[in-house]
Amino acid sequence: MAIVTFSAPSLDKDITVYAVAGDNKTLLGVAKQHGIAIPCQCQDGECGSCLVKVTVLGDKAPLAVHLTDKEKLTLSVNGKLTKAHLENAETNDLPPPYRLACQYIVRGEDILVEFSGEPGVEIDLRR
Ligand code: FES
Repeated sequence: MAIVTFSAPSLDKDITVYAVAGDNKTLLGVAKQHGIAIPCQCQDGECGSCLVKVTVLGDKAPLAVHLTDKEKLTLSVNGKLTKAHLENAETNDLPPPYRLACQYIVRGEDILVEFSGEPGVEIDLRR
């Protein structure tokens, strides 16, 4: 069981839900299940509209590090995945800050998911 907290300017307040780990549900699927509108167009890792920032909470080693090839390509093309982020993910098991909700498989770890509410636009972290 993972606790997933969604935070966005488009939400009245942060929304925290439980997600069952191991049922291969994407972050986008969890959001939809709970009526949380993360922008999404292709739902297949190609458009980048479902961009979210994911922070792993707690002090355990992150689990959801793996990026699909589509996620790598789309994030890179959109400037949200640097070479250093990718190297850290692939060699040091450190997840990059930005992910695609339609590609991210929820694992058994608590996470904070922040998104702007605008397709492909990163959350303004200065707020
Ligand atoms: S909805 Fe297009 S990349 Fe996720």
